[in-house]
Amino acid sequence: MLKKIECFIQPFKLDAVKDALIDAGVEGISISEVQGFGRQRGYSEGEKPNKNVKFLPKIKLEIVVDEEILEMVTKQIVKLAATGKFGSGKIFVLPVEDAVRIRTKESGISAIT
Ligand SMILES: Nc1ncnc2c1ncn2[C@@H]1O[C@H](COP(=O)(O)OP(=O)(O)OP(=O)(O)O)[C@@H](O)[C@H]1O
Ligand SMILES: [Mg+2]
Repeated sequence: MLKKIECFIQPFKLDAVKDALIDAGVEGISISEVQGFGRQRGYSEGEKPNKNVKFLPKIKLEIVVDEEILEMVTKQIVKLAATGKFGSGKIFVLPVEDAVRIRTKESGISAIT
């Protein structure tokens, strides 16, 4: 079964997370620069929140994996993206119907390994 991880991390954590994911067996990653907020609405500790939210820069990673390595991959993200502070990020896991490697026409797990 294929699963998709969509996660949001602090930009300065990208290198460490990427290296750990390659070690965990991930064969492809897409990233984008996004802006977002979580439950602090973009305010850091000590700041006085007002009713406006602040969008902060984050990196979104999209990773489709065999569910066999899902737990290891999410554990590595949690370990390496952690900052000990608010805003370290969040991981979402989604089901994936299918995948196709266009060059070879392989589908399913063969398309991502
Ligand atoms: N429910 C959500 N839907 C979509 N994106 C989200 C959601 N929650 C968080 N994000 C994204 O994840 C980023 C990091 O979220 P963040 O780590 O601040 O979550 P949090 O729930 O506020 O946790 P914490 O209390 O540790 O800060 C946000 O900037 C946003 O881009
Ligand atoms: Mg937050």
